[in-house]
Amino acid sequence: MKIAIDGPAGAGKSTIAKRLAKELQFVYVDTGAMYRALAIDFLRRGLDVKDEERIVAAANEDTVTLSYVNEEQQVFLNGENVTAHLRTEEVGNMASASSAYAGVRAKLTASQKKLAEETDVVMDGRDIGTAVLPDAEVKIYLTASTRTRAERRYKELMEKNGTAPELSVIEKDIAERDDRDMHREAAPLTQAADAVLVDSSTLTIEEVVERIREIIKEKTGL
Ligand code: DC
Repeated sequence: MKIAIDGPAGAGKSTIAKRLAKELQFVYVDTGAMYRALAIDFLRRGLDVKDEERIVAAANEDTVTLSYVNEEQQVFLNGENVTAHLRTEEVGNMASASSAYAGVRAKLTASQKKLAEETDVVMDGRDIGTAVLPDAEVKIYLTASTRTRAERRYKELMEKNGTAPELSVIEKDIAERDDRDMHREAAPLTQAADAVLVDSSTLTIEEVVERIREIIKEKTGL
């Protein structure tokens, strides 16, 4: 069984996908973390984000694998656990830019398809329903307004660091990332024709999980 959850940054995909995976006892695969792992390598090598040839060559030398500790995904870059280093602005920006290259995508898409062949998955990302698992039994396109997503990010940063950029700055950053993810040539973020749209702007996490559980039940009986 394959459940695909796509949508823009900050829509709540990972929180929701993790909950669903736990309830269904499926494996949760956070594909954004795999792009972030490669981004760490590109940064360490000092590669210029515009240098597609060297970035793709580096991606083809790298190995990104996943394992699970207490149901938490751990990401390994060439055997090194890089999970603790994935969530910085610098890594996020490099992941966003380098994921536009078809050669980088081909590398990770292949391993994501393989993972889904081996086990039942809830997989989240940008192109899961359209490119990675076009035959997924359930496809969800989870979104929320840019303002809502900026507010969530602001709250998260305040809780974590006690400080955060102004809301308008965060909102602009989110809009720019959406633009990059939606307008790149290779597997852009878009709602698959057979995906169900869920707008989480005015819903709590529990309400979103409940709504998606209903959709899963309708489609699969699970
Ligand atoms: O979901 P995230 O912010 O961790 O993802 C980081 C970047 O990786 C994001 O800007 C877009 C890219 N990405 C992608 O192109 N395809 C995916 N399936 C997942 C992430």
